[in-house]
This record gives sequence, structure tokens and C-alpha cells, in this order.
Amino acid sequence: MKIGIPKEIKSQEERVGSTPDGVASLVKAGHQVFVETKAGMGSGYTDEQYVAAGATISNVETVWNCEMIIKVKEPLEAEYKYFKENQIIYTYLHLAANKKLTEVLLQSKTIGIGYETMVGPNGGLPLLFPMSEIAGRMAVQVGAHFLEEPHQGKGLLLSGVPGVRRGNVAIIGGGTVGINAAKIAIGMGANVTILDINANRLAEIENIFDGKIQTLMSNHQNIAKSVEHADLVIGAVLIPGAMTPKLVTEEMIESMEPGSVVVDIPIDQGGLFETSVKATTHENPVYVTHGVVHYTVANIPGAVPKTATEALSGVTIPYAVKIANVGVEKAIENSTIKTGVNTYHGKLTEKAVANSLNLPFTDVETLTTVLE
Ligand SMILES: NC(=O)c1ccc[n+]([C@@H]2O[C@H](COP(=O)([O-])OP(=O)(O)OC[C@H]3O[C@@H](n4cnc5c(N)ncnc54)[C@H](O)[C@@H]3O)[C@@H](O)[C@H]2O)c1
Repeated sequence: MKIGIPKEIKSQEERVGSTPDGVASLVKAGHQVFVETKAGMGSGYTDEQYVAAGATISNVETVWNCEMIIKVKEPLEAEYKYFKENQIIYTYLHLAANKKLTEVLLQSKTIGIGYETMVGPNGGLPLLFPMSEIAGRMAVQVGAHFLEEPHQGKGLLLSGVPGVRRGNVAIIGGGTVGINAAKIAIGMGANVTILDINANRLAEIENIFDGKIQTLMSNHQNIAKSVEHADLVIGAVLIPGAMTPKLVTEEMIESMEPGSVVVDIPIDQGGLFETSVKATTHENPVYVTHGVVHYTVANIPGAVPKTATEALSGVTIPYAVKIANVGVEKAIENSTIKTGVNTYHGKLTEKAVANSLNLPFTDVETLTTVLE
């Protein structure tokens, strides 16, 4: 199969669909890979490295003319003109929030496979997982940065020093983001509290961190107390398919010491701080409300493209090899790949997306059987 890896054109997006190692595994499986000129630059990969891995460096038209496209972000309007019938577009699609892209994928009869809907054998989302790990770890790093006085913070070092108190970090939500944030916060020497509504999860966290973390049931009182005493609050809640509840009220933010920092990671789902009124960008990541620094960047992993590309490519490329080897019709025997198929030959094949957009849903298996 001919596989194209375009350069991402979304503003400030420096990740790329595959590392040179990922390209090498596609080439080894017998496929031809076309990488757009300088596509990997922002992630630290040169055209020469892709050539050494067996790719051909090409212009954007040649890349998009391939049978399968491997990307990172959802295609933008400037890319819609390249879509063609039967072409596989394998990338984050996030169609529930993008009717226009859904319509173009359907009209062009392309096969849209979205990383974010691929469900692993144990029920998790294996292609979203690495980005949550990165966002969680970054949350503490950026939190510590904005606690510094020259960056509008109160001028506090999370670790303290002998004889001077450590910083208090409260993490609301103990899933992938929360645990990864906790790892870094503990490593930096902070006092860490995690709040979650899932008692089993809290017990697991106690075990993982060997009692070094305070766990608390997430309720209004416990959140209010933890926020009031925190120097850094990290929002890390996810309720699948729903907007994030505003668990931290404006009153709670007012109770914080000026110069404290909040990092609202689920801002992509609406955010969990009442005072998170907008998503920010890496260029201008924070604003101050009631004296508290708010960090609400919606694509946190975009700041570390080298790590993020390697982490993403590590989980996406094995499935890409499977799809390219046998074609989508056979590859969907793998349930993880099947759950990724959002559009197929003009039909919408992802139930949650169909529900969100109020469009008819068709099970992809019924379509591939008809085509065979
Ligand atoms: N901004 C970014 O760049 C970025 C990057 C990655 C992930 N995210 C977002 O981060 C969020 C968390 O993702 P995740 O992978 O950790 O999800 P996850 O499913 O692994 O964890 C979510 C946790 O929230 C807990 N929870 C649910 N309701 C709660 C409540 N009322 N109080 C406390 N905890 C509660 C759940 O029990 C679960 O443990 C998602 O919204 C995701 O989209 C954002």
C-alpha cells in the first residue's frame, strides 16, 4: 500500500504522524511510504532520517494522493480537497465536535479512522492514553513554573527546603492524568492530595504510592478544603461523553492565596473550574482571575512534540501496519481497529458521533459484508 505522512498544518502543531522508526516498520512490511518535506522537523526528525528508514520525501500533493494517510490532528479545511474515495485517513478526528469534517468525509467516501474512538481489549482508549500521560506530567512542570514570582506566581518552590514548608498540590481526578501528575509532584517533593469519586481507584492510588499521597473522596466539602490550602490545583476529571462538571466554584478560587496556580486539563471537555472561561494556547497560556493564575491550554502535549510524537507513533503504527497489510475490511476483525472506523464509504459508523451529530449510524460490519 502507498502510505502518505503529511506535515501538520494546524497552528503550533509540531507533532508528525510517524517517527522514522515507525516508517521503517511500515516499509519492512512491504509498503511504500511518502513523507512530506520537513514534516518531522518540529519533532526533531530530519528528511534524511526518513529516507534512511526507507521513505520517499515528497510534496504535499503526492503525499495526499496515497491510499492511506497517517496524521496527528484532524484534517483542516485546506486539506479537504485531497480526500478521495476509498482513501484511509488514520488520525485524531474528534468528529462529534466537527460536523463539517464529518460531512466532507462522508461525501468523499473516505474511510476515517479516529484514534480517539479506538477501544483496547481491556476497555481503555490506548491511542488517547499516552497524551493523557504527557498532559498529567506536564501539568506539574507548568504549575511549578507559574508558581515562580517572575511568572505571576506567589514565588513558591514546590519542594520547599529544609526548615521551609513544601508546596501543596491538589489533584482532582485520579485517572491517567491524575496519577501521572502525582508521580511528578511527589518526585518534586510536594505534599500531594488526590480526590476521586471512585473508592477502588483511591485504594489503588494508596497502594501505588505506598501511602505517600493523601487520598480523599471527591465531594464539595473535601474539594473546597483542598483547594483553599493548595498552592497548585490540577483538574483531571473525565466523565466519558459528557461535559466536565464545574467542581471548583468561583468562591473556592477566591479562597486561595494570591499567586496560587490552577491547571485545568479537561478544558477540552469544558473545564472543571468555574473561572476557566476560555481555552488558551502555548503562546499565551495563562490568565489571572481573583489573583490565581489559570493555565487552560487545550493541547498540552503539543509543547513537547518530540516526546509526544514518539509516544503516539509507538501506539498508532502497529495498527497502521495491520490495516495496510490486510486492508480495512479484514483489519476490522480486530475490535480495536473496528471501533476506530468513524466513516466508511459514505456511512457514519461510530455510534457516539452519530448520536452527537444527530445523523444515522450504520455498523461497519454490515457494510464490509455487503462489499465482499
Ligand atoms: N488539555 C490537554 O491537552 C489534555 C490532554 C490529555 C487529556 N486531557 C483531558 O484530561 C481529562 C482526564 O483524562 P484521563 O485520561 O485522566 O481520564 P481517566 O478516565 O483516566 O480519569 C478520569 C478520572 O476522573 C474521575 N472522576 C470522575 N468524576 C469525578 C469527580 N466528580 N471528582 C473527582 N474525580 C472524578 C474518574 O473516577 C477517573 O478516575 C479528559 O477530559 C481528557 O480529555 C486533556
